[in-house]
Amino acid sequence: MPARDLTAIDHVLSTTRSVRKRLDFDRAVEPEIIEECLRLAIQAPTGGNSQGWRWIVVTDAAKRLALAEMYREIATPYLKAGLGGDAEVSAQQGRVIDSATYLAERLHEVPVHVIPCIYGELDSLPNFAAAGSYGSIMPAMWSFQLALRSRGLGSVLTTLHLPVAERAAALLDIPAGVTQVGLIPVAYFTGDDFRPAVRRPVEEITYWNSWKQAR
Ligand SMILES: Cc1cc2nc3c(=O)[nH]c(=O)nc-3n(C[C@H](O)[C@H](O)[C@H](O)COP(=O)(O)O)c2cc1C
Repeated sequence: MPARDLTAIDHVLSTTRSVRKRLDFDRAVEPEIIEECLRLAIQAPTGGNSQGWRWIVVTDAAKRLALAEMYREIATPYLKAGLGGDAEVSAQQGRVIDSATYLAERLHEVPVHVIPCIYGELDSLPNFAAAGSYGSIMPAMWSFQLALRSRGLGSVLTTLHLPVAERAAALLDIPAGVTQVGLIPVAYFTGDDFRPAVRRPVEEITYWNSWKQAR
């Protein structure tokens, strides 16, 4: 692969942020661009080549409002209580809470909500089966977000409506036996570019041959 291609790919991989405050609520998103990104997304792997994914694209304003109200029921008290997480990165958490609160308040205004679903009831699965099921849709969800980002659209993986997913299922006619895995708000982003996030050094979180063994 030519070096210049690698540069572009690495840039997308390192700058696909969770976009909330820079979502452009006023710019319409073409259905074709969603389909184009989903077409790329479903090149992702699935356990046993199961391809049990289904994607619900919600553009209807009344349905987006209903989903946003469900989301806020969970998100508002959760975000007020603060987020958990790694103590060493807690300096970032204030900004995440602020940004997540903004998204919760404005979610109904985001022009497209994408709800990735997968066939199967995933509650109380043993670890190997849960990994197999979630692992058969989350790589595609991330590919979808990467494809969006490379076309000038922002997104954020959210999971906060899942405690009331049954009500979202009723709203969207999702049948029993199908599990919602998140809700991805999608819009064009404002501004030009994003920066890599600050993460712990990879050497600190990578062990070689044994737990906590440095290279
Ligand atoms: C499994 C998962 C669930 C998440 N759920 C939410 C959510 O419900 N709401 C939200 O605003 N962000 C959510 N996020 C986004 C994270 O807050 C975000 O990835 C994190 O703060 C790091 O920021 P970055 O993605 O820009 O690097 C979720 C991310 C993941 C991976």
